[in-house]
Amino acid sequence: MEDMKEKVAKAFKERFGQQGTTYASSGRINLIGEHTDYNGGFVFPGAIDKGIWAELAANGLEKCRVYSMDLDDYAEFGLKEEDAPSQGWARYVFGVCREIQKRGGKVEGFDAVFAGNVPLGAGLSSSAALESCFAFALNDMFNNNVISKFDLARIGQSTEHNYCGVNCGIMDQFASVFGRKGHLMRLDCRSMEYEYFPFDPKEYRLVLVDSRVKHELKDSPYNKRRESCERVASRLGMETLRDATMEQLDAIKGDISAEDYFRAKFVIEEKDRVLAVCDALEKGDYETVGKKMYETHRGLSKDYEVSCEELDFLNDIAKECGVTGSRIMGGGFGGCTINLVPDGLHDSFIAEAKARFNEKYGHEPMVYDVVISDGARKCE
Ligand code: GLA
Repeated sequence: MEDMKEKVAKAFKERFGQQGTTYASSGRINLIGEHTDYNGGFVFPGAIDKGIWAELAANGLEKCRVYSMDLDDYAEFGLKEEDAPSQGWARYVFGVCREIQKRGGKVEGFDAVFAGNVPLGAGLSSSAALESCFAFALNDMFNNNVISKFDLARIGQSTEHNYCGVNCGIMDQFASVFGRKGHLMRLDCRSMEYEYFPFDPKEYRLVLVDSRVKHELKDSPYNKRRESCERVASRLGMETLRDATMEQLDAIKGDISAEDYFRAKFVIEEKDRVLAVCDALEKGDYETVGKKMYETHRGLSKDYEVSCEELDFLNDIAKECGVTGSRIMGGGFGGCTINLVPDGLHDSFIAEAKARFNEKYGHEPMVYDVVISDGARKCE
């Protein structure tokens, strides 16, 4: 990705007349474990080779001057709470600065230019890539890297909560900060213990099929899903649904809404699926991994209701083509399916998915082969 580094460096020089330092961070995929993070459960993400590149330099002023190349938009803002910029994209950068300051960290005025290649609205977490890129950079530039990696992830998450209106879990920012080339990570979102899993399935490939239906998590049903889970957990006298069982849920079925029941059912089942997938991966049993992915899709579509017609259609095509596993990925309401595809089916599946989707919806989905890569970093 040298070209992205060069691209932001060149634009920075043109705009600010000097050279800065380049930092980058990544979008993410998630093999399994959806909507489990804010329920204290397990997730199984990895960083990908698509991300955000930013060139930064301290400017000795009391303000930040930031240019987004992709949007061709410029924002200037101070570092006090009342200085929040109006542009949505700039609030991610401002939020990161503020969250660092709130934790006692230092941020001084800086200039920045950034650009990315994470498809927006695809469920690949371009926003986490942006947050962790700036959090990493400001830690390096102004804080001697004393802010821990977990805090960098939390700074991104709090930015979403406090400045962007999304009450998200920790998965995306964790993956973006901790990502390691060739490895997926299993994170226990309650204890925050994590483990790297080398992921190099011979004979299979992970393929993303992007419906290009855009989702907007702000003010979206995402926060409502979380509220449902919290209501059920509190009804069960638990902090999260992490330890809840189907027996316990069934025992309170009459006291909660049908909607809340199905939301909680999905989360309880999904938690077990992540553990089953870990076992299967250790044995190299990709058939089981794939089967669980289909189960997750069904749950996300029917019980959690975060799918949409286009994604269900892509899931059906995968099944009909004999793809080993397929499911909607990320928060939902549009975006991608993630598919575990046997090598031999790769080309025919993609051709079939493109043709049939185009016939039905009038545009082809975008297709990306997943390359598991490093997360937040300084580009030397
Ligand atoms: C979004 C959120 C994550 C997570 C996923 C669903 O990506 O940012 O915290 O909840 O949805 O698994």
